[in-house]
Amino acid sequence: MTETRKVAVLKGGRSAEREVSLNTGAQVAEALRSDGFGVVEIDAGDADFIEQLRQTGPDVVFIALHGRFGEDGTVQGLLELLDMKYVGSGVLASALAMDKAMSKHVFTQAGLPTPPYVHLRSGDEWDAEGISAELGAKTVVKPASEGSAIGVTIVHDPSELERGIEEAFRHDSSVLIEAFVPGVELTVGVLGTDDPFALPTLEVVPEHEFYDYDSKYVPGMSTHVIPARVTDAQNLECQRLALDAHHALGCRGVSRSDFIVAGDGSVWLLEVNTIPGMTSTSLLPDAARAAGIEFPALCRMLVEGALEE
Ligand SMILES: Nc1ncnc2c1ncn2[C@@H]1O[C@H](COP(=O)(O)OP(=O)(O)O)[C@@H](O)[C@H]1O
Ligand SMILES: [Mg+2]
Repeated sequence: MTETRKVAVLKGGRSAEREVSLNTGAQVAEALRSDGFGVVEIDAGDADFIEQLRQTGPDVVFIALHGRFGEDGTVQGLLELLDMKYVGSGVLASALAMDKAMSKHVFTQAGLPTPPYVHLRSGDEWDAEGISAELGAKTVVKPASEGSAIGVTIVHDPSELERGIEEAFRHDSSVLIEAFVPGVELTVGVLGTDDPFALPTLEVVPEHEFYDYDSKYVPGMSTHVIPARVTDAQNLECQRLALDAHHALGCRGVSRSDFIVAGDGSVWLLEVNTIPGMTSTSLLPDAARAAGIEFPALCRMLVEGALEE
């Protein structure tokens, strides 16, 4: 008889994506339980969650947290100090991926195509004309360190820049203004510890103007198409770039990269998520299913990868 492995699922927490994380955590916990793991769910928003972790003494921690204090390297650092194994990327990769300005430095250095952008820190001067001369009139303004499209504004005309920039600065002191790239939006999951591989591409078709918060989480507000409706060469290119981005940031176990394939066929990397949504209907689990990996098997794979570290 094999000994039952104990998994602590860390969920909730303090980020703007708390609700999403509670969902991810509950579904991961249920899948692991049904697969025979001993599971303890811990809310990382509890004042004594570190004490709860210590008392649980898990074989491995499944970090089902998104955004700050979870996906950004802080919890990973805590678990390193506690000498606990955990699913997914380490401190540096998590922190780099969470900060879109830092990720774009790494992407550029690694020769990965990412849309042109202007980076602002709070207090920086900027002028609408200069920005639109550099990036075009239509841009996307986003806080550097949020997820789930929180604080993101599509700016159609330079006159709307100010409002978008103000909105982004409400969420972060570091803000990106990116050239808007019209095209097909798709995402590519990467799995595996020793020998990572890319999942099939998944095209997201939002009901709204872009893939905003509602599109991501309200059922029926977006459709998934697997593989994405782009050419075979473009699909392969996105899979190759997702693997390259995973390696460039130093990710481990799992990642999910977001892309746009533009009308002219060029491929653009937007960002890498180190803890993608993991409800059974989320993007990465959906792509895994298309590759023959059902949700419980996916959760088991991630846990076993971390145990082998
Ligand atoms: N440069 C861009 N061109 C067109 N659409 C974009 C661009 N950047 C972001 N978007 C839209 O905004 C959404 C959120 O942006 P993203 O960079 O993926 O941040 P996050 O998902 O972390 O909030 C994307 O899924 C896409 O729909
Ligand atoms: Mg995204």
